[in-house]
This record gives sequence, C-alpha cells and structure tokens, in this order.
Amino acid sequence: MQVKQFGPRTAAVHAGRGDLAPLGVHAPPLDLSSTYPLGDVDAAGASYESMAAGGLPTEGGPVYARLWNPTVARFESALAVLEGTDTAVAFGSGMAALSAVLLDCVRERRSHVVAVRPLYGGTDHLLASGLFGTRVTWTRPDSVQSALRPDTGLVICETPANPTLELLDIVDVVAQAGVVPVLVDSTFATPVLQQPLLHGATLVLHSATKFLGGHGDVVGGVIACGEDWASRLRSIRAVTGAVLHPLAGYLLLRGLPTLPLRVEAQQRTATAVAAYLADHPRVGAVYHPSRPDADPLGLIGKQQSGPGSLLSFSVRGGGAAAQATAAAVRLITHAVSLGGVDSLLQHPASLTHRPVEASARPPETLLRMSVGLEDAEDLIADLDQALSRAHVVAPNGCAE
Ligand SMILES: Cc1ncc(COP(=O)(O)O)c(C=O)c1O
Repeated sequence: MQVKQFGPRTAAVHAGRGDLAPLGVHAPPLDLSSTYPLGDVDAAGASYESMAAGGLPTEGGPVYARLWNPTVARFESALAVLEGTDTAVAFGSGMAALSAVLLDCVRERRSHVVAVRPLYGGTDHLLASGLFGTRVTWTRPDSVQSALRPDTGLVICETPANPTLELLDIVDVVAQAGVVPVLVDSTFATPVLQQPLLHGATLVLHSATKFLGGHGDVVGGVIACGEDWASRLRSIRAVTGAVLHPLAGYLLLRGLPTLPLRVEAQQRTATAVAAYLADHPRVGAVYHPSRPDADPLGLIGKQQSGPGSLLSFSVRGGGAAAQATAAAVRLITHAVSLGGVDSLLQHPASLTHRPVEASARPPETLLRMSVGLEDAEDLIADLDQALSRAHVVAPNGCAE
C-alpha cells in the first residue's frame, strides 16, 4: 500500500506503519538496543561499511545503534512522506540537524552561507560563531542573489520566521540561489501547512521538538531531502554521533497522526487570539499571517495553506511591561519552545534571540506566543489579566 496516494490526514496516520500488520503488531515496536548480535563477520563488516558511508544496513544487520535504528527509521520514512519526498534524516535536536548540514558544506569546501534574517536565535548564533569554519553573509529575502559567492554552499531561510512571522517566497529565493542548495526551516509551518521541497527547496529542517512531537516531551531534529543529501547527512551523523534516541523517534512517530488536527485547531485559536490582541489598548503591533497586511506577497493559500499558530505582539509600555506580561500569565506557561498542545509565552530578546547581535535582535517590547489546544476564551482571559497586571507592575514606560 502506497501511503502517498492518500490525503494528508490519512498519510499522517498511516505513514511509517505499512509493515506493522505483516509483523503481527498494531503499535510500532520500540527498539532500544545499543548493539546487535552479529552473525557472519564479513556480512556485519559490509553492513557497517554501508552505514558509515551513509547507506542503510545490509544483511549483516544494524551492528551498532549510532549507525542506524529501526524505530528512528520509521519516523524518518513517515516524515519524508509528509514532506513529499523519499528520505529524511533524524538527529538529536534541530541544532544537531543544522550542524550536520553545515559540516557537509565545509567538507565539500563550500563553506560560505547566505542567511536570510530573521532566523531562530540559536541558528543565528551558530552561523555567527563560525564554529565549523563556515562564514556567513546576512541578507534579506530580496537580496539573496547579490550575497552569493563562488564558494557559497548553502542559502538558509525560515518561513514563517521566528519570531516575527514574516513569510518569504520560497520559489523566489530558490530562483535567486540558482545552483546553490536552499534550506528552509519550516518548523513553524509543519508539513501540514507547507512543503518547501515542492517549491524547489533542497532541504527542509524541522526542530522536531516542536509541532512534530507536539507534547513538549521530546527533543529532536530532522532534515527532509533527496537521497544524495540524505546519505551524506547520515554519514556525518554516524561519525559525529548526533543520533536521535529511539524513544524520541517513537514519540515523534506517535505525534504525527494527530499533527494535522492539532495544527488546524491551534491555528484557528491563534487567529482568534491575534484578533483579540489587535484590539487591546495595551498591545501595539500584532504579528500573525492572518492579520491584514501580514501577507503582502499573497503566500497564504499558495505556498502555505494557513496562518499557523505562532504569533508575536508588542506590549505598550516598553521592555519592562513586556517582560512583566510574560511573567504574569497563569494558564499559559511562561516558557520557551513552541508547537505543543499547551500555550507558551516568552520574551525573545531575553531568551530565544538573546545571542543575536543587537542590531538584528527582536525589539524588547515583543512577546512570542505559541497557541495550544486550549479554548480561545480561556487564553484570552489569561492574556487580559496578564496585560492588566503588567500594567500595574511596570507603569513607568506607559508613555508609549
Ligand atoms: C525555528 C527553529 N529552528 C530550529 C530550532 C532548533 O531546534 P532544537 O531546539 O530542537 O535544537 C528552533 C528551536 O527553538 C526553532 O524555533
């Protein structure tokens, strides 16, 4: 049975599970082995060599869990189906996934990276640090082409961007990049709303920690791509040991069947919360793709099927009022991360985007909210009390 022939909800439920009935089980098996009994030495050695070079295990078996794991492989094949490609490679975190891509650029002697800001603060930090020997040119979506150099190995961008929710035209960025591979961090959109490979991107990055897991109990990362990139990334993963734990792979696969329903419900609530905040006297700008003027390129409905459930807003009264608002929520959790079933609120300038150089850091007045599965009116009531309390706690800046 080819899961790809079905609709996206069916695919989310059944991808990666096609062999369960023949195996005689209903739930995917969780294989926690760190090593595997070996039979014939030559066969095991040949399998080892295949995996170390980025291939799959052969008849000699998986040999050792740093090289390959069947539970993780199930999650990878399911995610690849959802992204409309053949292959995905999972890592111990989103940052480990990005690190593997950067290491490949260095290995191929194309160590210059064109990075479209804004990006997640950790991504910005890694690129700015040049830790692996990469060099970066920061740019905006319309200036990618002029930032390219003969040694450019990668163009990296996010859409929607963290934390401003700006949308960027993937087709246009890919056209500007020419032969240079484009990596799209699609963490905020999920494959439910957007499939960047279908718009010409070479690599799709997810912090699987977020929507794919969806329950705030797993850290992981994944790259969806073609087999040529996948084998290079698997070989880097094998030597650097940046593997996803099998239990994390199990939890991520378990999260996928509900992904479409979660994303759809969360974005409906986020749209209602954004509309409420836009009318609030203590709130300045509200950033959510559902808001008027938030999608000047007309990408919703074309590139991205809906606005998603992340939003940002600026609090009137300055940075202290914004920080006080984040600290004053009761139902919503004051915490970083996003994409789970419960709503989270955080102050990017102090936390997720703290390492970003001052000129590119989000404003002190900005808060980012990940809207969960709660009732919209309960979230609105909590934001209302938090904004009121923050106003009392931080009255100094109320001149804005
Ligand atoms: C858009 C985006 N990309 C990548 C990452 C990094 O992922 P991880 O924390 O799983 O390493 C994050 C983390 O917040 C993120 O928000």
